Amino acid sequence: MRTVKIKLGENSYSIYIGKGILEEFNSLFSSKEARKALIVTNNTVWNIYGKRVIDSIKDGFTKVETLILPDGERYKTLRSVEKGYKVLVENKFTRSDCIINLGGGVICDTGGFISATYMRGIDFYQIPTTLLAQVDASIGGKVAVNLPQGKNLVGAFYQPKGVLIDVNFLETLPKRELSSGWSEIIKAGIIGGEDFFSILERGKYPLITAIEKAIKLKAKIVKMDEKDKAIRKILNLGHTFAHAIESATNYRRYLHGEAVAIGIMYAIKLGEAIGVTDPSLKDRVKALLERFNLPTELKKLNPQDLIPYFYVDKKATTSSLSFIIPLKIGDVREFRNITPEILGGILK
Ligand code: NAD
Ligand code: GLY
Repeated sequence: MRTVKIKLGENSYSIYIGKGILEEFNSLFSSKEARKALIVTNNTVWNIYGKRVIDSIKDGFTKVETLILPDGERYKTLRSVEKGYKVLVENKFTRSDCIINLGGGVICDTGGFISATYMRGIDFYQIPTTLLAQVDASIGGKVAVNLPQGKNLVGAFYQPKGVLIDVNFLETLPKRELSSGWSEIIKAGIIGGEDFFSILERGKYPLITAIEKAIKLKAKIVKMDEKDKAIRKILNLGHTFAHAIESATNYRRYLHGEAVAIGIMYAIKLGEAIGVTDPSLKDRVKALLERFNLPTELKKLNPQDLIPYFYVDKKATTSSLSFIIPLKIGDVREFRNITPEILGGILK
């Protein structure tokens, strides 16, 4: 088992990564106090893993309740959050009890938001079951739900008490979802530097090593800037475009990682348009994204339709939009000097 620590003072926690480690949950996250647990999950994950998870954890809790949401980004809403509060209140959960999120990024974000806000905060643990959630969504404490006007517009910074990453969950993950997770690993490679990126290009590494490398990079950045005030923003490479693409297509056409892949290519185009991005970057990144069957171009959508969504991006201020642009592998920065003309030019 590999361990990565997120060091954030009293909000520090460990991320355990391994194969077949689900059964270790109680020994890794034991508590002296008797407590109840609410498992937040969706119907797909529950049907495959519900019984196994209950059997693995039930001895550690006085009672285990479940909130089984419908599957999909469309349900990452305040309505789902409200359903969660109802189960918690009906079962008399207090601040000494906890929530366990079992699922992909949608569940980690929604269950995390319920945890951050129920009684002003209740402990929670993440058991991410998609590659994307294992390398990104389950760690770092960003929890949120969507509003009709845009993605992740209501949320909090609220760290879990622990994260258990069992790569065995990935055995049942559809191929397209697996590729979607690779998109966030490739993003981490672009940020991380030549060592990391060229390992991905060479393609010779165990999956668990790629997961660990992506997590270590995120852990390092979150430690420096938990609340997204400065360097953490670079983890949003490709995301300003991705969130706009997802919102403009009602979360139905592209998976999150696919939208991020297209978004990374737009960020590179933008960097080229303002003359800061190394001209060799585009082909290297495109080739790697394509190797993982990720899209690199927007189809059946007028790119100009993305523009209104940039104004509800969380990095935007009243006076300027913000874009994260890679200059070269290992050098990714925020730019605020993008004019509507430049943006219009690359979205033509
Ligand atoms: P998802 O949660 O929708 O899961 C993808 C699909 O895989 C779903 O249909 C799910 O039911 C299914 N699934 C999950 N685990 C499975 C398994 N083991 N076997 C078979 N099927 C399984 O999508 P995702 O890509 O995991 O996450 C995307 C979400 O994560 C987005 O909402 C995005 O905004 C969010 N996100 C958050 C952060 C953060 O820092 N909080 C970072 C990145 C992404
Ligand atoms: N996924 C971007 C972040 O956690 O900051």
